[in-house]
Amino acid sequence: MTMNPLDPSQIQLTEDGRLKHFLTTEGLSKEILTEILDTADSFIGTQARSVKTVPLLRGKTVVNLFFENSTRTRSTFELAAKRLSANILNLDIARSATSKGETLMDTLWNLESMYSDMFVVRHADSGAAHFIAQHVTPNVAVINAGDGRHAHPTQAMLDMLTIRREKGSFENLTVAIVGDILHSRVARSQIYALNTLGAKEVRVIGPNTLLPQEIESLGAKAYNNMNQGLKGVDVIIMLRLQKERMQNALLPSEAEFYRLYGLSTDKLALANPDAIVMHPGPINRGVEIESAVADGPQSVILKQVSNGIPMRMAVMAMAMGGQQSGQNKEEV
Ligand code: NCD
Repeated sequence: MTMNPLDPSQIQLTEDGRLKHFLTTEGLSKEILTEILDTADSFIGTQARSVKTVPLLRGKTVVNLFFENSTRTRSTFELAAKRLSANILNLDIARSATSKGETLMDTLWNLESMYSDMFVVRHADSGAAHFIAQHVTPNVAVINAGDGRHAHPTQAMLDMLTIRREKGSFENLTVAIVGDILHSRVARSQIYALNTLGAKEVRVIGPNTLLPQEIESLGAKAYNNMNQGLKGVDVIIMLRLQKERMQNALLPSEAEFYRLYGLSTDKLALANPDAIVMHPGPINRGVEIESAVADGPQSVILKQVSNGIPMRMAVMAMAMGGQQSGQNKEEV
């Protein structure tokens, strides 16, 4: 295989096809996505024990490099690193040298000089994690924790883990992703992962102003009418309105959006009776989801949060080559 460093699916893999960076679900094979899910599954058991740590990343230094705010993603990456016995440095970018005019590359070179082994990067610009992966020294792994509206691969994979644990497999599933698809890095990463893992049908539901034009070419069927789009659906993924990324008036009003696209008890009844309700968080009650649905029996929103830790452990361990060691595997 000839390596093209600009191809996002190739920069993530070593020459023998193992995970080196995790930047996007786009272009990764079903085998590698399944290996990520299986590895995460193997970590779930360790989370319920009184001693939750495993020694896979002992002696390694992970840097949480968050240029954009986050609660869940940042804290579950931190817990995941700690449960793998790594040392973790949380860099508060707002107070760091970036605010004193240092360039991204200078920040990186300084962190590399401290012998870091892994950067977990969140950035408001699409392509930031990919750029960093192209410029780091070869032994440093880069994990994308969300870049602009491009990709959020660990969120998509913790969602895939949640779906597989709830539904068993992907083959017979119809999945609807609802709301602000236009600004959602989560939706893009989910659509690639769901199609690669063999979901029967992926739908996106929202007003035209919040559906990207190219969406059907990514392998998702577009619906403007939520009542039609929810029919026969097994998994409903609600998304937050990303108002911080909206430059123009894309919506008539929040109340109108809720009336048409909010997941109420009535609308949920249109999906299959055993449909599960998901949301990457943060949820906005009464804007995209009714409280009774978010807290109801079909909601797996908090399970998604729990699954974020074993999923992030899996990706970090695989990127560090931890999954290669038979000895460490037994210790898990
Ligand atoms: C999402 C994000 O930041 O992309 N949240 C998350 O990581 N759990 C979605 C959002 O902000 O709405």
